[in-house]
Amino acid sequence: MLHDQVVFVTGAGSGIGRQLAVAAARRGATVWATDLDAASAVAVAEECRAAGGRATSGRARTLDVTDAADVARAIDEVVTADGRLDYCFNNAGIGFAGEFRDSSLDHWRRVMDVNLFGVIHVAYAAYRQMVRQGHGHLVNTASLAGLIPTPGLSAYGASKHAVVSLTNSLRLEGAALGVKVNAICPGFIESNIYQRTLVAGLKPDAMRTMAPFPIVSVEGLVARVFAGLERNEALIVYPFYARLLWRLYRWVPWATTWKGLAQVEKIRREYRIAE
Ligand SMILES: NC(=O)c1ccc[n+]([C@@H]2O[C@H](COP(=O)([O-])OP(=O)(O)OC[C@H]3O[C@@H](n4cnc5c(N)ncnc54)[C@H](O)[C@@H]3O)[C@@H](O)[C@H]2O)c1
Repeated sequence: MLHDQVVFVTGAGSGIGRQLAVAAARRGATVWATDLDAASAVAVAEECRAAGGRATSGRARTLDVTDAADVARAIDEVVTADGRLDYCFNNAGIGFAGEFRDSSLDHWRRVMDVNLFGVIHVAYAAYRQMVRQGHGHLVNTASLAGLIPTPGLSAYGASKHAVVSLTNSLRLEGAALGVKVNAICPGFIESNIYQRTLVAGLKPDAMRTMAPFPIVSVEGLVARVFAGLERNEALIVYPFYARLLWRLYRWVPWATTWKGLAQVEKIRREYRIAE
């Protein structure tokens, strides 16, 4: 599926983006590894070259997805160099944990700037290029937090619900234009997001320790993503508990309410430090 394809990844320097980039290179893709952090983009591009793929695979580029003009320039660079853009993994994102009452508007703006406007900037440039060329896959990284209520993560959850909604709409608009649009909705995946997550009113390591479900491997997620893309699944929800919660919330919402209320109690009892 990815052999000889031109693949662009944002937030490729770490975690899910890194694994998407390296696994795509291993399958013979030409990979553009972009990240806010220049050094990690270079390191992952090097991993892509080492993983095989085409000789031109493994290009690194520093890219802040909140900068719409630079995002447009980056997509232009891909098309100028490789003639087309086959897959865009719109993946860069940040975490934010804290009760709504402890969060500031600056927290909300930062989360929305990266997780929503960053995704919009990349989609805007990539989707239009894919429409022009008549084919392409735009793959947005949302989250399980974009499918169910997320007490203690309301800003993050709101940003990811918006990404799911954008995906579902664009998927219908793109269908007859040759553009496939999908969202990845992971549960808790091993990555650096837990150390980097902004927190308000919580212990610094709260994001990791308050995860109510197992943190699973990124390799398993990416294998599932590639399988889901082959079937053009709208929402790729992983792992099993994420699928179960998503279904429960849709079909028997009351069954998930108790879990959410218990999570609020637990956060206040064990992780909240604010008065
Ligand atoms: N790890 C999880 O449990 C999990 C679960 C659901 C969804 N996600 C989503 O997966 C995506 C990747 O997260 P991850 O877990 O791999 O985290 P990570 O922190 O390991 O990697 C995120 C990468 O994005 C980069 N980044 C941050 N801000 C950026 C910006 N403005 N422009 C460009 N790059 C930027 C970081 O430098 C980092 O390399 C995010 O959208 C995240 O919300 C993660």
